[in-house]
Amino acid sequence: MKKVMLVFGTRPEAIKMAPVVKELNSRENIQTIVCVTGQHREMLDQVLNVFEIKPDYDLSIMKEKQTLFEVTENILKKIKEVLEIERPNLVLVHGDTSTTFVTALACYYMQIDVGHVEAGLRTHNIYSPFPEEFNRQAVGVIAKYHFAPTEQAKQNLMSEGKRAESIFVTGNTVIDALKKTIHTAYTHSVLEWAEGSRLILLTAHRRENLGDPLKNIFKAIRHIVEEFEDIKVVYPIHMNPEIRKIAKEIFGNHKRIRVIEPLDVLDFHNFMAHSFLILTDSGGIQEEAPSLGKPVLVLRNTTERPEGISAGTLKLVGVNEGDIFDAFKLLLNDKDEYEKMSQANNPYGDGRASVRIREVIEKNLFHF
Ligand code: UD1
Ligand code: UDP
Repeated sequence: MKKVMLVFGTRPEAIKMAPVVKELNSRENIQTIVCVTGQHREMLDQVLNVFEIKPDYDLSIMKEKQTLFEVTENILKKIKEVLEIERPNLVLVHGDTSTTFVTALACYYMQIDVGHVEAGLRTHNIYSPFPEEFNRQAVGVIAKYHFAPTEQAKQNLMSEGKRAESIFVTGNTVIDALKKTIHTAYTHSVLEWAEGSRLILLTAHRRENLGDPLKNIFKAIRHIVEEFEDIKVVYPIHMNPEIRKIAKEIFGNHKRIRVIEPLDVLDFHNFMAHSFLILTDSGGIQEEAPSLGKPVLVLRNTTERPEGISAGTLKLVGVNEGDIFDAFKLLLNDKDEYEKMSQANNPYGDGRASVRIREVIEKNLFHF
């Protein structure tokens, strides 16, 4: 029997690790241990509930308006004890959050092997996204196994000198999750409210967008809503109080903009499927939208998801008010432009990424 511990702490990590937890749990030769850092609380718990995952450990570190110092310090201190108790043969981390980086660092200090799920995404600018680009590069230095979602991600790792034998192209586990959540008969009171209008789905939360960029984004959207009477915006807002304050200031109580609490992932995926257009600075949503054929305006200056740009679904529009306004307006007015971006074209695999990850783990832990 070998022990594999999965550590995650935020909403997107939980969504993308849930299929891996399920897959490993189905094996008798592996003891699967789940440790959540609780970097997020409500938004993490929503995912744990949907996928019915009961963590073995919960470090419960979240504090309101937490700084990167607090998150880093608190996880590092608390994860040490869990690793000492369990001494896993392998720890799996996901992506690029502080939970991911700090867990990998703790494993390095204790010389425990690390597998990095969703490895190899790069912008090559450590301040964009901040601090995610640094986090994933640093985990890349520590990890023994790199589970790359695409060939492009593998190439990024190879060009940093990682050995080909340590990189496995698996697809993205988000597609595994997406396959289980979309229901054709889905309905919701907010979707009923939006019926008869073009539904615009908005999310925004990146640390580097807090402040003026977020104000620019919201102002551009408000102007568009005022110009186009046939659109309605739904914004499941992140729980960060700084974001809520700016949203309230700029959107107020506009009758065609609904700011709602974060949706659980089942609801969110179905909202995506019902939307006309998505505006977001999220990473995960950039990966989900191409499968659903939903055009996305990416509210950032850089993206580590060039596959979605090549697929035609994503357009990087930055955080300048005028640029967002122009790109948004074009898609509302120009049918051809819209059609070009709304072809379903999924570059992230066949929904079996978690199976491939499990196979690699078994092969390496048991030397099959
Ligand atoms: C984190 C990740 C980011 C990821 C994002 C996904 C880091 C540094 N950032 O950013 O990579 O894209 O999660 O959403 O790892 N809060 C709550 N309840 C929750 C979640 C958050 O109240 O369930 C509030 C708290 O006040 C918290 C703040 O949001 O202090 C920020 O949370 P934090 O995890 O530090 O940063 P995110 O911006 O969510
Ligand atoms: N998501 C969700 N509810 C919401 C908004 C997003 O479940 O109200 C899901 C979305 O489908 C995607 C993930 O959360 O799978 C993205 O998380 P987020 O944007 O917070 O983080 P990022 O991907 O940018 O790290």
